[in-house]
Amino acid sequence: MSIALLYERSETDELGIKQTAEQLGIKLEFIPFRKIALAFCKDGYSFRTKGKDYTDIIKNVGVVLNRAQSKNRRLFASHIMETFGKKTINPSSIEFECYSKLRTMLHFWAWGVPIPKTVYVPCDAVDITRDGREIHNEPDIADLLQDELALDEGIVVKPDAGTHGKGIILAKNREELVANIQATKSSITNPVGILAQELVKKWFYDLRIIVYKEKGKNPVCHPSALARGGFKDFRTNTYLGNLVFDAALPVYVKELAVKCGRALSKDHEAYVLALDAMINVGDNKTLDDEALKQELNKADAAFESVKKIKKDETKLRDFPSWNNRLEAAFQAYKLSEPYLRVKGIIEDSIEKNKTNVVFHEANSCPEFWEHTRLTAGINVAVPLLKGAESLIQS
Ligand SMILES: Nc1ncnc2c1ncn2[C@@H]1O[C@H](COP(=O)(O)OP(=O)(O)OP(=O)(O)O)[C@@H](O)[C@H]1O
Ligand SMILES: [Mg+2]
Repeated sequence: MSIALLYERSETDELGIKQTAEQLGIKLEFIPFRKIALAFCKDGYSFRTKGKDYTDIIKNVGVVLNRAQSKNRRLFASHIMETFGKKTINPSSIEFECYSKLRTMLHFWAWGVPIPKTVYVPCDAVDITRDGREIHNEPDIADLLQDELALDEGIVVKPDAGTHGKGIILAKNREELVANIQATKSSITNPVGILAQELVKKWFYDLRIIVYKEKGKNPVCHPSALARGGFKDFRTNTYLGNLVFDAALPVYVKELAVKCGRALSKDHEAYVLALDAMINVGDNKTLDDEALKQELNKADAAFESVKKIKKDETKLRDFPSWNNRLEAAFQAYKLSEPYLRVKGIIEDSIEKNKTNVVFHEANSCPEFWEHTRLTAGINVAVPLLKGAESLIQS
C-alpha cells in the first residue's frame, strides 16, 4: 500500500511534499485532480486523464494526501477517495468542518475554546420575489447585528468560506455596516446569510498555528507560530503583503490549539490543520504604534531579498536550487536586527495577553512551504507524510 499526493497544480507546496518524501525515503504516487475523468458504474471505477490511466495506481494506494486547492473540489476528492476505501489526510469530515468558518467556530465554542463573538443571520442581503422584485433586508440584518455587537467598536462581516482575506470588511458606523451587508453575495461556496464578528483589538499581528496528529499518538501543537504583521489594514494575513515572524507560543495557547484539533477531528487518527488565532491585546501595548511602524519598515527592507526570490519565475522549473536560495534569504532575514526586535515585541505581547487569545478559523490545506516552514520552522510535509505512514502501518 502506498501514499499518494492528489493535486490540481504542482506549486511549491506540492514540490516541497515531493522533495520531503524523497528525503524521508517515502515512495509517493501522484494523482492529478483536474483534467481527469472519474467514471463509475456497476463494473467498477476508472480514473483517467487523456494520456494516462490512473485506475491501478489508485487501487494500490492506501492513503491520499489531499491537496486539491478549492474547498469544494477538496471535499469531492476526499469523498471519492474514501468511497474507494482510501484513508485521507485530511478526512472529508474535517474538510467539511473547515470549509465553513461558522461550523468551525461552533465546534470551537462547544469545546470551550475562546472565539471572537460571532453572529450568524441566515438571510441574504437581497431576496428576489417570483415576479422579479427586490426585497432589501440590509436594514433588518444590520439591526440584528447591532443588537448583538457594539458597532462603535467595529463589526467585521466575512464570507463563511473565504480565503486570503477577500470580502472581510469592517464597519464602524451604520452607513458602512449597511453598505458592507449590501456588498455580500451569496454563491455556491457562500450559500446563505451573513456572518459577522466583533472586531478583535489585536494590535498589528495575528497567528497561524499548526496542530497535527499521527495514528496512535497524541495531537501536537508546533511550539512556534507564524505571526503575520503590519499596519496596512486591519486584516493582517500574509496574502495582503504583511510581514512574517516566528513567535514562541505559551503552553496555555498550545493547549487550546490541541483542543481545536480535537474539536474538529473527533476520533480521526491522523490530521494536519493550520489554525488562525488572534490575541485581543486591547490597549495593553508595550510600544507606541509610531515606534513600532519604524521597526516594521526596517524589517520590511530586510524582507525585500526574500520577496525577490519568492517572485522568481524559475521556482517551478528548478525547484531545488530556487529553494536553496529561498532558505538562505530567509535565514538572513531572520537574523536581521529589525526582525529580532519585532519578534521580541510579538512574543512579549503574546505572553502578556495569552489569556485573551481567540481562535477563528482552521485551514485544512494550508500553504506552508515558503512562510510557515521557513519562519515558524515546521515543514508541514513531514506531519502529512508521517501521518499517512502511521495510517498504513496499522
Ligand atoms: N473578528 C476579527 N477582528 C479583527 N480582525 C479580524 C477579524 N476577523 C478577521 N480579521 C483579520 O482579517 C484577516 C483575515 O481573516 P480570516 O483568516 O478570517 O480570513 P481568510 O479569508 O480565511 O484569510 P486566510 O485565507 O489568509 O486565512 C485575519 O488575519 C485578521 O487579521
Ligand atoms: Mg484565515
